[in-house]
Amino acid sequence: TTPAVAPLTALGFQGVAKTMADQVTLAAGYSASVVYALGDPLTSTTAAFRNDGTDTDFANRAGDHHDGMEWFGLSSDGQASTSANDRGLLAINHEATTDETLSSFFLHADGGTKTLPRPASEVDKETAVHGVAVVEVRKTGSSWSAITGSAFNRRITALTEVDIAGPARGHALLKTRYSTDGTRTRGTLNNCGTGKTPWGSFLSGEENWFGYFTRPAGDDAARGNDKTVTALRRYGRAAGAASRHGWESAGSDDIHARWINAKTGTSADGTDDYRHEMNGMGWIVELDPYQPASRMVKRTGLGRFAHESAVFSLPKAGEKLAVYMGDDSRNEYIYKFVSDTAWSAADAAPADRLATGAKYLDSGTLYVARFASDGTGQWVALNLAAIPSTYTAYAFSDEADIRINCRLAADAVGATKMDRPEWCATHPTTGEIYFTLTNNSNRRVSPTAGSSTQLQPDSANPRAYSDLKGTATQSGNVNGHILRVRETGDSGAATTFSWDIYLFGAQADADTGLVNLSNLTADQDFSSPDGLKFSPSTGICWIQTDDGAYTDVTNCMMLAGLPGRVGDGAKRTLAHSSALSVDTFVGASPTADTLRRFLVGPKDCEITGLAETPDGKTLFINIQHPGEGTKMADIADPTKYTSQWPSNAGYGAGQRPRSATIVITKNDGGRIGS
Ligand code: FEO
Ligand code: CA
Ligand code: CA
Ligand code: CA
Repeated sequence: TTPAVAPLTALGFQGVAKTMADQVTLAAGYSASVVYALGDPLTSTTAAFRNDGTDTDFANRAGDHHDGMEWFGLSSDGQASTSANDRGLLAINHEATTDETLSSFFLHADGGTKTLPRPASEVDKETAVHGVAVVEVRKTGSSWSAITGSAFNRRITALTEVDIAGPARGHALLKTRYSTDGTRTRGTLNNCGTGKTPWGSFLSGEENWFGYFTRPAGDDAARGNDKTVTALRRYGRAAGAASRHGWESAGSDDIHARWINAKTGTSADGTDDYRHEMNGMGWIVELDPYQPASRMVKRTGLGRFAHESAVFSLPKAGEKLAVYMGDDSRNEYIYKFVSDTAWSAADAAPADRLATGAKYLDSGTLYVARFASDGTGQWVALNLAAIPSTYTAYAFSDEADIRINCRLAADAVGATKMDRPEWCATHPTTGEIYFTLTNNSNRRVSPTAGSSTQLQPDSANPRAYSDLKGTATQSGNVNGHILRVRETGDSGAATTFSWDIYLFGAQADADTGLVNLSNLTADQDFSSPDGLKFSPSTGICWIQTDDGAYTDVTNCMMLAGLPGRVGDGAKRTLAHSSALSVDTFVGASPTADTLRRFLVGPKDCEITGLAETPDGKTLFINIQHPGEGTKMADIADPTKYTSQWPSNAGYGAGQRPRSATIVITKNDGGRIGS
């Protein structure tokens, strides 16, 4: 069947009210069910999940904290298919775990250990629930289920061997005791946003990986305070930093010692210790979900930072491909990679997807965005020639060093510091790129004197006291915004662009002069946009929230938008104070037909991940960490869990809350959102 591709001009469902109910609340006329939750067996020999903390064998089960997700269709005979609508593979990130003081407490019968050293029995479960999964799903009649025991099912964990490719492969800064030639590492970690390549493979972004490593207090001195100390600090690991889970404490064997990113050996090149281990994380990783025996590959050309999604410009034959990416940390940057190789349509269905990945992703130019106050912007190339001679904080040894430490290179060229770039998404017909900027507590009208982290608002990050009610009692850009970029000539290879802000998150009753700049109504208001994806079928821009500021009023949610184009709104001048006014560019306000809340999730969850069948009639999304606010001390008392979803929706054993993938269909069989 040919997918029905007809962008909507108006949303067809009735908006959902904000709610704090511990359930998935959906627009009328739609149904949802759970298909794949934490602990579900992926092989036919794995025991059923008891969900009481006694389960083991997590490398053969669904991981935790389901995040970004992509659809890979399968024909009825199990071949890759771009048109299949009732059988396919979901490639899913398992970002993290629900934790409190070291332990991922829902995974352990008594909640686990809160002090060091931690037992290997707990740690080895926790490393196995992180990573990526591929799981086959099928539709039978009108209902969907995961196929336990499918030959395509697989898990990649925080310890699975992964190849390193691209300009940093074999670099001196990637040599470790595990990979003395710097070509491999173990695992992928804190995988957040995703992407799907034009050649049909899966991309996964490694986000807050640095928190899993520790560095002893004396490590700076052991390194002779060399440039690697500067790099480690810039990437979030000062000497003496404790790790998030204490995995390094579970034993002196290699799989535990690798979490101590320290110079402990005597070699000149680091091949007898793990002083370079963190350089193996922070990449966009490529996986061929159709080849269960293939290895995952870290594509170092795309730069190393706290990655979210990686999305492509609309592929045009004979033009280079652009990949857009955000670095999710306060005051970090937006990047794009442009391939050296021009796109060939013959590569849309290649025999070898990872070889095709090497062709487009292993050589190219990495750029960082600089936004100007007149609604234009520049992509600044990150290479040795671009580093000003006045920049002395870090001496780059070569071009690969720039990819490994591109945050430092972006500092050097004066890129624009953003309000936490989360996902990006490419509009399926205009090709404009949308970026969620989730929030930034460090954006201030009057930064504390001498602060290196607090920044005044600028045109692309123009709000600084967007308190939920429009008063100044909360600091920073509390609610976040969605910025969009139109490349000059609509070409991914362009080095200039125009931009505006599609939507500002805000509470509907907030001040419309400084806070609710998009004039959101009660059916549209949201805070902290994070997941973002367009439906190629309906053209809907799905907006998912990960919010801690509006959760006194509503659980996190998903909205549907039908945006216009860059420049459809107006220039606004925000008068922050007598000394500070900021020009910005606000997209046309949405109408009741073009922005509406579609779904609200259970308590203490984030809504994230979105995969759609080509016909637009089946939507998979992820409910991440329901019940995250539960206290570890309450592990024995399910009545105190802040969520009991999905067991309260009839899914699975036990009452411990579980991250899960749900499938959404329209009761009349139509396209989602129509
Ligand atoms: Fe994993 Fe930035 O969200
Ligand atoms: Ca995210
Ligand atoms: Ca987030
Ligand atoms: Ca989260």
